[in-house]
Amino acid sequence: MIDVAIIMGSTRPGRNGEAVAGWVHDLAVKRGDARFEVVDLADFPLPPLDEPMPAITGRYTRSHTRTWAAKIASFDAYVFVTPEYNHSAPGPLKNAIDFLYAEWTNKAVGFVGYGSVGGVRAIEHLRLVMSCLQVAHVSAQVELSLFTDFEDFTVFRPAGRHEDTLTTLLDQVLAWSAALKPLRTGERCEA
Ligand SMILES: Cc1cc2nc3c(=O)[nH]c(=O)nc-3n(C[C@H](O)[C@H](O)[C@H](O)COP(=O)(O)O)c2cc1C
Repeated sequence: MIDVAIIMGSTRPGRNGEAVAGWVHDLAVKRGDARFEVVDLADFPLPPLDEPMPAITGRYTRSHTRTWAAKIASFDAYVFVTPEYNHSAPGPLKNAIDFLYAEWTNKAVGFVGYGSVGGVRAIEHLRLVMSCLQVAHVSAQVELSLFTDFEDFTVFRPAGRHEDTLTTLLDQVLAWSAALKPLRTGERCEA
């Protein structure tokens, strides 16, 4: 069975991200065709990148890096739940991504964004980052508006249509993650 991490991009006290990640998780677990777990960056406190060698070398020297690497390596796919901060993704999320390399590669990812324009600028930046790490990013994306999917910008009340988009996103993530499995396991792919 495919293991999927729902990674919460916000670490802020009082964050909207918690309700959004909970909504993603609740809908995802109803499928029964994969395992889903919310991963909270706040549970993996990472300083600004402090590894002497680039992550692509795999030479991790810090215990916090090894703990984070083991967590990310344990999944086959990811759903990033990301707010938009200054037209991009939150710094702690980018930092957490930069800490690792091989743990991300040959997996699939989908994006659930939120912000004044659905978090789309944060998602676009994350797509560039994921390309660099050889993570297959699916086209379906959930765009939640602070104006129409939250009351008073804080109480999450998503419009019903987002469930269909999330379902499509998860379908795509699971399909691509399964297709990439031979690359993760080193099995031979026949042409
Ligand atoms: C530092 C900061 C910068 C922000 N910049 C943007 C932005 O550029 N575009 C946008 O749509 N919302 C922006 N927002 C609003 C956030 O998207 C909104 O507050 C969201 O709820 C933050 O997610 P969180 O509550 O899970 O941390 C910003 C919020 C913060 C804290």
